[in-house]
Amino acid sequence: MTQSNTLKGIVFINGKPIYTYNKALTILELGSFYGINIPRFCYHARLSIAGNCRMCLVEIYKSFKPVIACSTPISDGMEVYTDTALIKHSREHVLEFLLINHPLDCPICDQGGECDLQDQAIIYGSDRGRFRETKRSVQDKYMGPFIKTIMTRCIHCTRCIRFTSEIAGEPILGTHGRGKNTEIGMYIERAVTSIFSGNLIDICPVGALTSKPFAFSARSWELRPVDSIDILDTLGNFIRIDTRGSEIVRISPRYNRNLDEEWISDKIRFCYDGLKTQRLTVPLLRKSTISGQRSYISISWQQSFQLISQLILQTLISSSSLKGFKFALGDLIDVETTLLLKDITHSLGVEAIPLSPAAKISNNDLRGNYLFNTKVKYMDTINLYFIVATNVVWEAPILSLKISRNVSTIKRDFMKLIGYIGPNLGSNNFFAYKHMGLCNSILIAILEGRHYFSTYITLIKNNVFFSNSLFCDNFPILVHFINKITNCKMPVNIIQKNINSIAAKEFNVEASHMFFNKFIKKHRVDILYVVGNTNTSVHHLAHTYLIYQGHHGDENATNAFLLLPSSTFTEKSSLYLTNEGVCNHTRQATLSPGVAKSDFDILLALSLYCNFNTTFKKPNELLLYLTSRGLFNISFSHFSNNITAILTKQAKATMPLNQINRFASVKPSIYNFYSTDIISRKSRILQLALNRKREHNFYDLRY
Ligand code: SF4
Ligand code: FES
Repeated sequence: MTQSNTLKGIVFINGKPIYTYNKALTILELGSFYGINIPRFCYHARLSIAGNCRMCLVEIYKSFKPVIACSTPISDGMEVYTDTALIKHSREHVLEFLLINHPLDCPICDQGGECDLQDQAIIYGSDRGRFRETKRSVQDKYMGPFIKTIMTRCIHCTRCIRFTSEIAGEPILGTHGRGKNTEIGMYIERAVTSIFSGNLIDICPVGALTSKPFAFSARSWELRPVDSIDILDTLGNFIRIDTRGSEIVRISPRYNRNLDEEWISDKIRFCYDGLKTQRLTVPLLRKSTISGQRSYISISWQQSFQLISQLILQTLISSSSLKGFKFALGDLIDVETTLLLKDITHSLGVEAIPLSPAAKISNNDLRGNYLFNTKVKYMDTINLYFIVATNVVWEAPILSLKISRNVSTIKRDFMKLIGYIGPNLGSNNFFAYKHMGLCNSILIAILEGRHYFSTYITLIKNNVFFSNSLFCDNFPILVHFINKITNCKMPVNIIQKNINSIAAKEFNVEASHMFFNKFIKKHRVDILYVVGNTNTSVHHLAHTYLIYQGHHGDENATNAFLLLPSSTFTEKSSLYLTNEGVCNHTRQATLSPGVAKSDFDILLALSLYCNFNTTFKKPNELLLYLTSRGLFNISFSHFSNNITAILTKQAKATMPLNQINRFASVKPSIYNFYSTDIISRKSRILQLALNRKREHNFYDLRY
């Protein structure tokens, strides 16, 4: 609830005076803010008001009948009563009507224990019904691989209809029939394909829409919740991990005050089965058998460290320096590991080489070059979005919700615009945008002022620019371009490919501007130590000893000689730096399998074993350093200053406009939303989502 500082009136709730500073509130909103409980089913703070369940009835002084609190606005001097005998009686009758057709299957319902209807029935329900006729039953609907439907339980609150049309951008649900024949469903039955479809499970107040993968796996009171964050995109949205025993059985959203959102994407919600597939559990050493086939033997941590120290010594003896020893950072590495790795590379005088070309894009001297220069919280107030080469819906799903909410007002406000250059977003997108083309020539035309969008950029105030960190094929043009738009005071926001890239840039860990697969063609690499799973496979390793540290087996693990098992983000408490410059943290929800350890613990133990001359010898020394560096409270005042100056310097060193290939097309960095990282690729549930447009048989997909 936002409030201005001017007193707008006084409202009495149950005789208690409440001073209000905002007149645009309903009785229910004001009551909730002051902790006065008013029952509700159809009301949801993030959706429009429907007012159809009638459960929130309250009495207003001098009103001849009860009114609904969710849609009645407050007024000065209003006297509201929420707990009179009439109100209690009215709510009991409303509930009796809702329960007429609701099945009595709470013992086998997955919503049991966290069902709004069950909670209200305890307060307002009767121990017997008066309805003697036959209860109606409704056929279940098919909504895809994530959502299980038992439509007989539906109370027609219409939250799901409003969610799909107002938030998920896929208005496929509606009501059919009238009176007792009313049903919620689709006009043409098909799967819900929105990447936010899983949120339907949370907003349904009863057990009509539940999670298909979670079905019958646990009762809600058996779960242990742990607060954590989503590290599969760079905004670090807040999540809650529910575990039963040693297993993760559910992931759901938490309100995120930095982003002002409470939805999560299906990728993080359903990725949890990928956390236990193809895990490395013990250190493994590769041996070649006489027949030339690979075999692995398990070794202890001490033997692994001994082997690494011998390898380092051998390299030092054979080439009298450690030039041939390189590190590489994975995609999902935490802040502590990144900083410790930087410390180790400094102490040994070696380099960390970027595995992906994305590292090249920005100068890391200023935070404004790799962090957002606009707060995500305020993204829904922007007038012009200029998006180049990035599918915002896939690369920053929460950001796309903000944009879509703002753009849905386009019809009323002609000054709001989205200009997009890149491949057609097709059905993946859910907001209206002006598709200007997909090659460099459009960008150059805008730069030279020959395109109509140039005028918009110059004239419209309060605008933002988005691109992604893989736009480096067009690096020279981007630099020219950023110079132009920063002169127009348009904040530049580069969406990083993975959450680790931000900490890597913050600490300037990856020294080289040449990525590994190019680097190895020109330089000799004797030992490559890859810390963490990555999407990029390393090649040309004929003379290189590959050490791989990660939680899952992947292509790099197949090529490695020594494999060290590490923990996933759900098995450790670690820090992650988001694209907004906020330092969020995960909490340990489960134990690591086998003898796997966190990346930080492995590197720290290795550094102590080999006696590296590092600054950080204990975890708390590192945390003290991070605090002193102000990483926990980066403020937006750091950003935007001097960004033009630094980029102008880069532009001078870059290619003139007339030498740029005008017909080269702009490419996005993500081609498949459900396969962007090792965890989602290993998730069977998420891989089903890829097929959901082709699915026809609901029963084949039961878990
Ligand atoms: S399915 Fe759930 S959310 Fe949708 S109308 Fe029915 S009760 Fe409400
Ligand atoms: S919550 Fe008010 S009518 Fe449903």
